[in-house]
Amino acid sequence: MSTTPADDLVRTAELMEAAGGYAVRLLEGLAERPAARAPVRPEPRPLPLAGAGTSAAMAEFAARWEPGFAASAGPRYLGFVTGGSTPASVVGDWLTGVLDQNPTSGLDSTAPDLERETVAWLRELFGLPAGQQGAFVSGATMSNATGLAIGREWLGEQRGVSVADEGVAALGPVRVLSGSAHSSIGKALALLGLGRSALRKVDVLPGREAVDVSRLAEALAELDGAPAIVVANAGTVNTGDFDDLAAIAALRERFPFWLHVDAAFGAFAALSPGHAHLVAALGAADSICADLHKWLNVPYDSAVQFTHRRDLQARVFQNHAAYLGPLGEEPDPVHLTPENSRRLRALAAWFTLAAYGREGHAEIVGRDLALAARLGERIAAMPGYRLLAPVRLNVVCFTLSGDPARVDEVARAITASGEAFLTTTVYDGVPALRAAFSNWRTTEADVERVAAVLEKVSA
Ligand SMILES: Cc1ncc(COP(=O)(O)O)c(C=O)c1O
Repeated sequence: MSTTPADDLVRTAELMEAAGGYAVRLLEGLAERPAARAPVRPEPRPLPLAGAGTSAAMAEFAARWEPGFAASAGPRYLGFVTGGSTPASVVGDWLTGVLDQNPTSGLDSTAPDLERETVAWLRELFGLPAGQQGAFVSGATMSNATGLAIGREWLGEQRGVSVADEGVAALGPVRVLSGSAHSSIGKALALLGLGRSALRKVDVLPGREAVDVSRLAEALAELDGAPAIVVANAGTVNTGDFDDLAAIAALRERFPFWLHVDAAFGAFAALSPGHAHLVAALGAADSICADLHKWLNVPYDSAVQFTHRRDLQARVFQNHAAYLGPLGEEPDPVHLTPENSRRLRALAAWFTLAAYGREGHAEIVGRDLALAARLGERIAAMPGYRLLAPVRLNVVCFTLSGDPARVDEVARAITASGEAFLTTTVYDGVPALRAAFSNWRTTEADVERVAAVLEKVSA
């Protein structure tokens, strides 16, 4: 006989207690769990005909799947740009599932208002002006896509068409200019029908990933007054470099363009007194992307997008239906983002901001910045490695002093040690390793452990 949800319902307290105990054991073991695993898939199992209940499912997950899971929320997982989950955000995330709100519309619940409050808190955290309004999306890729979709509508406005109504063919060819665009920009352009080839790389400053603003001005001048999109980068993924946002924004006095800023993790520079100047002009952007499952340390998936042209945003994403209610003065989230139904992602972010405030999150950012700088110093002093760029923010980009082609081998050896997880890249044509600090748990002792494994594997 199959177990039904109703059978489990009468055991809710017992099941929650068991799940809580299991979660606590996982969290307590996180720092010593291998940072990453070389994936070995468990033997596939067919769909169970009869269910065995939640306790049995938990036991099976713990035996078959959990051992292969990485400590990606742990302190020495420095691959990609990966945040962990603060205790408050985990609680908020659990309650998201428990309450299971769909903040699509405000017809039944205050959940959309909680999202609005959280967006307003984030706006304040990043020092953005009140005119920048936003909504939650699944990640920086979706945030970039949303910002570019609004930019696409703005291009239509300049040319006297509505792309949302008439389709992208009515727009004609579009030029998107950027110095060191993240790969997700190409994906967004493909998704939006603008095409990956619309993206033109503009020269960067010598030895930098930041765009050369005079070359950007030249590229815009070549467009002969045709409106364009500029994607500025605040925190590049290889070296954490920043475009000069103020100088780029000032170019709008001379050329017509939509300024989208990918500040996926760079937006958090606003929390560091020594780095805030890098994003002081962020609020001048037309659309902004900031990821939250990175440096805010909330569970996947979570990001926010901002724009000061909510009218264009609603034109793109409006989802009129008699049963959903009117668009109204303050459109519900259903009219603002690519999804209709969606989880109340904002709750985890709300919890961590309510629990730790600006100061708590500034402490995380400040510590990660100091730790990245520390690892940079340690690597610079190691004969086996050389830094490829100064540590500008939270990413340490380096290669082997001997044969850079060995970086994959070295990355595998680091993973196999279980001590740390770093990802590889190619920076300015050189195969490289990256260590990105955005986890709230990482300490100086962790940096020493990472430095020790780096020394060992390069020997
Ligand atoms: C600068 C930048 N933009 C966009 C992204 C894409 O983020 P996500 O994977 O959350 O969609 C990343 C991810 O590392 C990033 O660093």
